[in-house]
Amino acid sequence: MPSIHIFTKDLRPGMYIVQTGESWRDKPFLYAKPGRIGSKEEIAEILRQGFLEAFYDPDRSEQPKEGEPDLLASRQVDLPEPKIPLREELKAQEIAYTNCVDSMQHIMEEARGGHLDFKSAEPLMSDIVDSVYRNSDALTSLSKIKTHDEYTFAHCVNVSIFSVVFGRHLGFAGEELQRLGMSALFHDIGKMRVPPTILNAPRSLTSNEFAIMQKHAQIGAEMLAELPGIGDDILSGVAEHHERYNGQGYPHKKKGRQISPFGCIISVCDVYDALSSKRVYKEAIPPTKALSIMYGMRGEAWEPGLVELFIKILGIYPVGTPITLTSGLQGIVTHSNPQAPLYPQVLLCRDRNGRHIKPPASVDLAQQHEFQIIKALDKKTVSFDVLSILTEESVPHSS
Ligand SMILES: [Fe+2]
Repeated sequence: MPSIHIFTKDLRPGMYIVQTGESWRDKPFLYAKPGRIGSKEEIAEILRQGFLEAFYDPDRSEQPKEGEPDLLASRQVDLPEPKIPLREELKAQEIAYTNCVDSMQHIMEEARGGHLDFKSAEPLMSDIVDSVYRNSDALTSLSKIKTHDEYTFAHCVNVSIFSVVFGRHLGFAGEELQRLGMSALFHDIGKMRVPPTILNAPRSLTSNEFAIMQKHAQIGAEMLAELPGIGDDILSGVAEHHERYNGQGYPHKKKGRQISPFGCIISVCDVYDALSSKRVYKEAIPPTKALSIMYGMRGEAWEPGLVELFIKILGIYPVGTPITLTSGLQGIVTHSNPQAPLYPQVLLCRDRNGRHIKPPASVDLAQQHEFQIIKALDKKTVSFDVLSILTEESVPHSS
């Protein structure tokens, strides 16, 4: 069996650490001293020295004792490269994504009137899962490139996209992955029972209004529980998406492993999309900034390692992010690099004088060290149309 990546916070005595041959220059925080972890004190020392990640060999490791928790963050699996190029999947999903948001708006508004048609969303979810399997970067980037007036409905679709991508990396597949997506798609269905004056208030809510708003998680789970055949995992995901690892969430102040895997995953994706979306009372925060805010919540809002893994999957600069490089060039991230997140693949589209680069040039920053990212750009301020450039026929194929 190949070695398995783990965050050092999740190490336990008996695990056999292996040396992967990675250079310390590429992975300065990788603990790579081979051998069996002897004690909790040894783990404390590894953490004290600042190591964040390690690889262990499950075959040479002692098996966990009965009742030891299966940490979600330890379940991560490596995935194959995308099956089709980003450009192709973007073109296929550009209209489909908007249609999906419109369909979800219809389903949720009908639910406001008392008729909740959960089943009619299943084909939408199947299409999302299929797209994620072909090239997950297409829908994750479209969700941030496209803007919608109606936040609530686009948010539900976006959270389901991120949950499927995240869940797949955590080892969910098949029916279970589909159910995770459905739970995420309906995670805010309870908001259809919140008065629109509170739901769409362009200001801070009063404490009384906030208390009403907070009920949406429990109400949503109750709305779904009235339907036949909705699994407990789906209901838990909806009910627990505002619970927090440190017990400071709502509605039941659950903590740690009391929160279901679906609840944990949807919670991460919910916060990411909420931060990086425009609301009636705030502008969108660029995805890179949103991820850095979430990194500051690590180990508190979510179990140790979970949000770090989410960032690793999306990349510090998620696909679709416009960026400026050291030389004054501007480009768009087209492929993240989980092994070296600061060095993704980029499509250069503006030279240092702001002139078009025709056709855009594909650069792998991990290979061409003369280019480095200075900063992610706010999509409102860039002078080019990200989606048009990513879908141009002349753009070199990049997976
Ligand atoms: Fe919510």
